[in-house]
Amino acid sequence: MTRSAVAVVVAALVALSMPAASNAQQRQPTSPPPSPPPPPPPLLAQTPPMGWNSYNKFGCNIDEGIIRAQADAMVLNISSAGNKSLRDLGYHLVMIDDCWMAPQRNAATGELEADPKRFPSGIAALADYVHARGLKFGIYSAPGPQTCSGRAYLQTSLGGRLPFYFPLFPPYPGSQGHEAQDADTFAAWGVDYLKYDRCSGSWDEAERAFALMRDSLAATGRPIVYSINPDENDFSRTSNKNSTKPDWMSGYAHLVRTTKDLDPAWRQLPWSQGFWSTGVVDAIDANGPLFAAAGPGHWNDPDMLQVGVKRPWLFGRKQVALTDVEGRTQFSMWAMMAAPLILGNDLTRMVEDDATRETLTNAEVIAIDQDPLGVQGRRVASSSSLGKFGGDSAEVWSKPLADGGFAVALLNRGKSPRVVRVEWSDVAFVGREGGEEAQRVSSKVRVRDVWRHADVGEFDVVGGSYSATVEAHGVVVLRVTFVQ
Ligand code: GLA
Repeated sequence: MTRSAVAVVVAALVALSMPAASNAQQRQPTSPPPSPPPPPPPLLAQTPPMGWNSYNKFGCNIDEGIIRAQADAMVLNISSAGNKSLRDLGYHLVMIDDCWMAPQRNAATGELEADPKRFPSGIAALADYVHARGLKFGIYSAPGPQTCSGRAYLQTSLGGRLPFYFPLFPPYPGSQGHEAQDADTFAAWGVDYLKYDRCSGSWDEAERAFALMRDSLAATGRPIVYSINPDENDFSRTSNKNSTKPDWMSGYAHLVRTTKDLDPAWRQLPWSQGFWSTGVVDAIDANGPLFAAAGPGHWNDPDMLQVGVKRPWLFGRKQVALTDVEGRTQFSMWAMMAAPLILGNDLTRMVEDDATRETLTNAEVIAIDQDPLGVQGRRVASSSSLGKFGGDSAEVWSKPLADGGFAVALLNRGKSPRVVRVEWSDVAFVGREGGEEAQRVSSKVRVRDVWRHADVGEFDVVGGSYSATVEAHGVVVLRVTFVQ
């Protein structure tokens, strides 16, 4: 008997054994049974993403050789980091920023294509190369008609914005009008992470465009981390003048940029010298107050790391860079704020740069950033009563951790060393539900300095305090656990 004949016989037997009412029901026209709900999508970015992005060091001067070399460097063992590679330490992503595209889409299909001169093997091959090293692959696009490299804005005193084009950079195509097609292209290439960078259009358009790409990525079925930048030059809809994160942005993406572009500088550098971006302290002030919006799967993004990045200017006659101390401070404060740790330096040169290497491979600081509780730390105290937070204040920050303990940062924004003191009862339960209850039952804490890699003692929570001399623009980071 054939399989279909068996099916007919079985169906007939089943029909005969059915009660009459059931037969009647069967004859009634019925709507198809509801399809089972799709399985929940994997929760991406459960901890802040870690990796490398091409923009801070290379800008638009990128090619496939550069990206491959960075991927290679990420998997090399580093003897001073316990013979672990950057990948072993958690840096899992290699990301191409702007300027990878050919200036025009494919005339026949409308698809985005890589610049044939700089990426002759194509993006899919590059993604394969990155994946073969156990890393994830990220790419860049923009919600407008063009990406940000070819276009910038002057904020006018009347509140409007004047677009102008950098003569040096050609405009590259953005994803406007091609969202579903580009999402499909990215998924087919094996993209794991998309940076979607707004530089033009109204806020209403942006809101629609960010949602459209979010839904287009979801429709591909490939898990792709989605990182959006509302626009570093448009302050109009934000309550915090330094921050670019409008209230409606939360929930749109796994990461939302909260700051203007970061320069390798402590403070914003002068416009008169050709800088239009922001400094580490400015970014801390913009991102710090937004702690309530962060959590597993949705993080605030105060821009990438500038540790070890040297930016030439004045035709190469000068360069700006963070000092080693400032680099440690950026890394520490990004960890306290549960920010993505996206390296911006040339990873192939880390061998020559002890301070940068030691900073970026500090596993104790990385653990604070990657803590699974996923709470963005917050500023608990500031010595300044001037202005918003005060330029040169000393500050105490606290971040609750999954093991029941917490991390503390003592930050000195001033130009000379100073003693910063923390009272344990002020910081021990900040940002933790049930904190008051915990305070009643806890009495002692054990404290470790994660830059000195040394325990510094045990203290009573109530009445106990700790003081440290913090160098200018420096930070002391403590990991604190309850003893009983
Ligand atoms: C904007 C972004 C930067 C970078 C550039 C690329 O300025 O904020 O992070 O992606 O565009 O053009």
